[in-house]
Amino acid sequence: MVSENSYSIKMKNRSLFFIVLVVCAKLVNTSCPSTCSCSNSTLGFYVNCYYKSFERIPDLPNDTYHLNFGYNRIHDIDVKFCEKMPLLQTIYINNNLIEEIPNETFTDCHQLITLDIDDNKLKSIAKMDFSSLRQLRTLDLSGNAIEYMHPEAFRNLTSLEILDLSNNAIEYIHPEAFLNLTSLENLDLSSNAIEFIHPEAFHNLTSLEKLDLGSNKIHIIDENTLRQLPNLRYLYIGNNNISSINSIPFQEMPNLYHM
Ligand SMILES: *[C@@H]1O[C@H](CO)[C@@H](O)[C@H](O)[C@H]1NC(C)=O
Ligand SMILES: *[C@@H]1O[C@H](CO)[C@@H](O)[C@H](O)[C@H]1NC(C)=O
Ligand SMILES: *[C@@H]1O[C@H](CO)[C@@H](O)[C@H](O)[C@H]1NC(C)=O
Ligand SMILES: *[C@@H]1O[C@H](CO)[C@@H](O)[C@H](O)[C@H]1NC(C)=O
Ligand SMILES: *[C@@H]1O[C@H](CO)[C@@H](O)[C@H](O)[C@H]1NC(C)=O
Ligand SMILES: *[C@@H]1O[C@H](CO)[C@@H](O)[C@H](O)[C@H]1NC(C)=O
Ligand SMILES: *[C@@H]1O[C@H](CO)[C@@H](O)[C@H](O)[C@H]1NC(C)=O
Repeated sequence: MVSENSYSIKMKNRSLFFIVLVVCAKLVNTSCPSTCSCSNSTLGFYVNCYYKSFERIPDLPNDTYHLNFGYNRIHDIDVKFCEKMPLLQTIYINNNLIEEIPNETFTDCHQLITLDIDDNKLKSIAKMDFSSLRQLRTLDLSGNAIEYMHPEAFRNLTSLEILDLSNNAIEYIHPEAFLNLTSLENLDLSSNAIEFIHPEAFHNLTSLEKLDLGSNKIHIIDENTLRQLPNLRYLYIGNNNISSINSIPFQEMPNLYHM
C-alpha cells in the first residue's frame, strides 16, 4: 500500500512536473519583451519594439510574423531570423547601427515579403545575403554606406517589386546586377555616386515603371541603357552631369510621361 501510494505520488509529481514544463515552454515560446507591444492573431504575433533601446534582437515568440525593431541601437544581427521564426513576413530593422549581414541571417525566410534595413551602416551586400527570399516584394537598403553589391546578390528575388538603394555610395552598376528581376516596378538609385551604368544593366526589367537615377555623377546614358523598358512611366535623371541626353530613345517608351 505504502509503496503504491508513493508510486502514485511520484506519478502525480511527474505529471505536475510535465505540466509545469509545458506551461514554461509555452511562456518562453510566447513571451513578448516587456517594453514592446505585441498582439496575437491567426497569422501569429505582431511584435512592435520600435524606438526602444535594444542593442540586439531578443528572443521572440516563434510564431512571430511581423517584427519591428526600427530606431534602436542594434549593431549585430547574429540571428538566423527565420530558423527561429519561420512565419516571418515582415522585418523592420531600419535606423540601427548594423554594419554587416552575417551570411545566414535571412536563410529560409521563404515567406518574407518586406525587408527594411534602411539607415544603417552596411558597406556591402554579399552574394548569398538574400538568396532564399523568393516571395520578397520590398527591399529597402537606402541610407546605408553601400559601395559594393555582389552582381548576383539580387538574382533570386523574382517577386521583388520595390528596390530602394538610394542614399548609398554606389559608383558602378554591374551589367547583371538586376538580372531576372522581372517583377521589379520601382528602382531607386538616387543620391549615390554612380558614374557609369552598364548599357545592359536594366535589360529585361519588363515591369519597371519608375526609375530614379537623380543626384548621381552620370555623364552619359548610353542609348541602349533604357531600351527594353516598355512600362517605364517615371524617369528621374536630375542633378547629374549628363552631356548627351539626345541618345535616350524616348520614342521607344510610349508610356513615359514624367522626367
Ligand atoms: C494566438 O492566437 C492563436 C490563434 O488565434 C491561438 O491559437 C493562440 O493560442 C494564441 N496564443 C496566445 C499566447 O494567446
Ligand atoms: C513553436 O514552438 C512550439 C513548441 O515548441 C511548436 O509546437 C510550434 O510548432 C512552433 N511554431 C512554429 C511556427 O514554429
Ligand atoms: C558563412 O561564413 C562562415 C564563416 O565566415 C563560412 O565558414 C561559411 O562557409 C559561410 N557560409 C556560406 C553559406 O557562405
Ligand atoms: C538562387 O537559388 C538557387 C536555388 O535555391 C540556389 O542554388 C542559388 O545558390 C541561389 N543563388 C543566389 C545568388 O542566391
Ligand atoms: C531566373 O529565374 C528563373 C525562375 O524564375 C530561373 O529558372 C532562372 O534560372 C533564373 N536565371 C538566372 C540567370 O538566375
Ligand atoms: C532577356 O530577355 C530576352 C528577350 O527579351 C531573352 O532572350 C533573354 O534570355 C533574357 N535574359 C535573361 C537573363 O533573362
Ligand atoms: C561635367 O562634365 C563635363 C564633361 O562632360 C566636365 O568638364 C565637368 O567638369 C563636369 N562637371 C561636374 C560638376 O562634374
